Amino acid sequence: MTGMAAARAHTNIALIKYWGKRDDVLYLPTSTSLSFTLSSLYTDTCVRFVDGAAEDVLVLDGEVQDAASTAKVTRVVDLFRTRYGVGDSAAGAAFGADAPRVRVESHNHVPTAAGLASSSSGFAALAFALRALFEERYPDAPRMSDTELSTFARRGSGSATRSIFGGFVEWVYGTGSDDSVAVPVDDAQWDVAMVLVALSTQKKKISSTYGMKHTAETSAFYPLWREVSEKDLDEVRAGIRERDIDRVGAAMEANCMKFHATMFAANPPFTYLTSRSLEVIEYIQELRAQGLSVYYTMDAGPNVKVLCRRSEQPRVHELLAQRFPNVTLFDAGAGSGPRILSEQEWEE
Ligand code: ADP
Ligand code: DP6
Ligand code: CO
Repeated sequence: MTGMAAARAHTNIALIKYWGKRDDVLYLPTSTSLSFTLSSLYTDTCVRFVDGAAEDVLVLDGEVQDAASTAKVTRVVDLFRTRYGVGDSAAGAAFGADAPRVRVESHNHVPTAAGLASSSSGFAALAFALRALFEERYPDAPRMSDTELSTFARRGSGSATRSIFGGFVEWVYGTGSDDSVAVPVDDAQWDVAMVLVALSTQKKKISSTYGMKHTAETSAFYPLWREVSEKDLDEVRAGIRERDIDRVGAAMEANCMKFHATMFAANPPFTYLTSRSLEVIEYIQELRAQGLSVYYTMDAGPNVKVLCRRSEQPRVHELLAQRFPNVTLFDAGAGSGPRILSEQEWEE
């Protein structure tokens, strides 16, 4: 009995975006999304029971986090306390003073809250580590599959659902909480990769959570979002089946632009894009005209993620580095699902 568990989970970038919740408490999406898990950007998280403590604690990159960030973690830990039969499972009920509290320590090997998907790896690593911790202490509870686990990660941050698996992953709309889960669709072990153009690693002013809520509530284009997104999704799925990066990339770009259009049509309107994002887009179009298979997507931030062939990734990286010399580039291939870290690996 060690009373600790550590896990590593990788971030993912959506080709078909999740943008809106049909249930703010259960974190149910308004549409199915599809992502690519990244090999080189990830979160390591260690969880420990602290018996007798009054509250859970979150330490991120060495700093104790504020109430708002800690509350999101507690929200997820509460689901585990309920699932493993400690405390009261009634909705909204407080857990007894004897319910075990958890200390969470985490390291993001990805900029936090900058539109580079730290919440996806952060909550996937948390959920993966918590499952191991609770299974060890409560071995008589029914075992939890990765599919069920993805619904726990989802309740921390929607995009975290998809980081429970590697390669290309869908987070399906589902009929309710139990089947709005992650489904691995392809291991992505073919000629596909990404280069991330990190124009800014500053904390975003408008969180994803707020941005999507405001858009869903006020955008004139939002009623179209689900329908057009499903068409783009079918196209990306077909491209993946055929391992046709040009088909995947074209549909990914189209979905990205519709996603940003929903924000241009919000009231008041807003955008995460900057003039520099547009400069990168123009350059990607130039490179494509020269014959490279390169495609862009952007999320809740100005950074541009470039989908390319793995065989052409070094060339794409070099060209981007020449054209944007002061910008940080991250190269990534297809990442795997989360894994448990040994105590020794965690200490390192
Ligand atoms: P991002 O683009 O990085 O996903 P979000 O606004 O979606 O930005 O999420 C950032 C928030 O996610 C942080 O403010 C914090 O609350 C939470 N978060 C990020 N990393 C972790 C982590 N490793 N452990 C717990 N929570 C995290
Ligand atoms: C634009 O998962 O960060 O990256 O569920 O509110 O935590 P919450 O939001 P989050 O939103 C991600 C939005 C996106 C698109 C995507 O990853 O699908
Ligand atoms: Co996020």
